[in-house]
Amino acid sequence: MSLSRVITLHQPKRLEIGADASARVGEWAGDIGTVLVVASPHTAGFIDRLGLRGKVSVFDGIPGEPDIATFEAAMAAARAARPDLVVGLGGGSVLDVAKLVAALWDGDQTLADVAGPNRVAGRRTALAQVATTAGTGSEAGIRALITDPGKGNKIAVESPWLIADLAVLDPRLTFSVPPAVTAATGIDAMAHCVEAFTNRNAHPVIDGYALMGIELVGRYLARAVKDGTDTEAREGMMLASFYGGICLGPVNTAAGHALAYPLGTLLHLPHGLANAIIFPHVLAFNQGVAPDKTAKVAAALGLDKAPDLLAAAHAFCAGLGVEMRLANHGATEDQLPRFAAEAHAIRRLMDNNPRDMSVDEVLAIYRAAF
Ligand SMILES: [Fe+2]
Repeated sequence: MSLSRVITLHQPKRLEIGADASARVGEWAGDIGTVLVVASPHTAGFIDRLGLRGKVSVFDGIPGEPDIATFEAAMAAARAARPDLVVGLGGGSVLDVAKLVAALWDGDQTLADVAGPNRVAGRRTALAQVATTAGTGSEAGIRALITDPGKGNKIAVESPWLIADLAVLDPRLTFSVPPAVTAATGIDAMAHCVEAFTNRNAHPVIDGYALMGIELVGRYLARAVKDGTDTEAREGMMLASFYGGICLGPVNTAAGHALAYPLGTLLHLPHGLANAIIFPHVLAFNQGVAPDKTAKVAAALGLDKAPDLLAAAHAFCAGLGVEMRLANHGATEDQLPRFAAEAHAIRRLMDNNPRDMSVDEVLAIYRAAF
């Protein structure tokens, strides 16, 4: 690992973090003009906390996993509202749609035109991203994922034009996230950090963010699960998620996320849950080739005294209330080879893993998680 490789680090122009920081959106926006808030039916309930002035329209039709139709509906809402400012108010799905809408609503480019890296032509509309979950770190980054139901996969758009002008981490907006979702999404945030940290393309700049994120998860996730109104713990988890989002930019994830994806597309598990189930297995699989970094991860999570890392990491996740058995999430044993083939084919992530993983090794992990 060295500093010799050139990396690019995008971050929001301004970050507001702390209890009731959401009120800073209105102060920052001032009399900017017309505002479009992109939200889910649930997060639309937080709009009053933003203190927005002027003409405010709301599109609250973002479901759990946004698909092309959802994106098009949000674009239609934006073309009707003609916003000067787009505010994303929600979890990763909402924020992903908001960043695309801000960049594309007044241009000619379609979603297909901008799929892949660096294809967005520009952006004229300001973008504020207000997170209401701690997991994806979408508010920190330049990537958006939209499900293509026809192909059963995700369209990934990546562009510097998708970065927020303002990102807001207000722990009070996450108080109502249920314990099981808090646990799974928190482990997802940690997985972003761990998979970047032990990545074949790891970089010292990103390692710093990754380790801070992992330590925050070790310190605060159990507290946030136990008491959803623990402001300090919630804030710590939002920051961990933000750091995870930064890790996703220049380094990205590896085998953990590759193995989690088929559980989302084929078994329809939420992204955080899928990652929580896979996390202990990949951590242990990579231990032999990344012993020092794995030891740092284990220490940050309080697992460094345990003789068996897989068992300890599994107990860490299960202890947070995550149901870790695939069989209890509706998977059947005959599905596992299909999962393994699909995961193994996600080369953009599998090739990041510090240890090569054969199809049989992928299958062995699914069997162990079954
Ligand atoms: Fe993730």
